[in-house]
Amino acid sequence: MEGSLCDLPAGLRGDYAAAGPDFTLPQDWAAYTPADHATWRTLYARQAALLPPHAATAYREGLARLDFTAGVPDFAEATARLRAATGWSLVAVPGLLPDDAFFAHLAARRFPVTRWIRRPEELDYIVEPDIFHDAFGHVPLLTQPDFARFLEAYGQLGDAAARIGALKPLARLYWHMVEFGLIREGGAIRAYGAGILSSSAETLHATTGAAARRLRFDLRRVLRSDYFIDHLQPTYFVIDDFSKLFGAMRDLPAQLAAARDAAPIPPGAAAPGDQPIP
Ligand SMILES: [Fe+2]
Repeated sequence: MEGSLCDLPAGLRGDYAAAGPDFTLPQDWAAYTPADHATWRTLYARQAALLPPHAATAYREGLARLDFTAGVPDFAEATARLRAATGWSLVAVPGLLPDDAFFAHLAARRFPVTRWIRRPEELDYIVEPDIFHDAFGHVPLLTQPDFARFLEAYGQLGDAAARIGALKPLARLYWHMVEFGLIREGGAIRAYGAGILSSSAETLHATTGAAARRLRFDLRRVLRSDYFIDHLQPTYFVIDDFSKLFGAMRDLPAQLAAARDAAPIPPGAAAPGDQPIP
């Protein structure tokens, strides 16, 4: 697929000139410096310390299986382990991708991972997703079969959503259920979303914060729910099982069209039919 840069923000950090038509480039793992690996280990140690009570079991099992402890992960090694688990692979990219290129990768069970890592002075906040967000946040859950099938099906619906003018509701699904998803395990609310698990502040706010609104997953509600891109989320959606996400994909084509024509729900607002999770 021939991607286009036209729907990307200006001034992105990555080396887009070095990427191919599908926006991939070699990871060039040998080029990471000792400082890059040290930054990775600092971020890893800090987040890993928070995980046991707050991260979903499937996420923690996936992270252990991938063994990202030593430094910046080598995508070839991670791909070998992912292939064995769910058939997914990792590809290196300069950063954010145009929608069509992103959907094409997911539909082919390729997860695009940003090649570069943040600078030491950016440990706590970064404007664009880097390799720590993408690899630490997203990749462990790709070992979970139902989640992996969901993400593949998500990519496959991208073109159809674009044709009917429903990319916005489709993006809301990714935001709420891939970046900021929660799952109920026993009596506990745990995080599996990458935007939560790659941020210490969001991990605590999402799972235990008194100010966060946690609602039972409802596809129609998610597709209409706007969000903040630069604040802690005011509202999260909670699944009971990863099969619920894949199961919802059956209804997605019809629901995308309905959500496109419905009024958006502002970030943090209540809506009729909301089912708060205690
Ligand atoms: Fe992400």
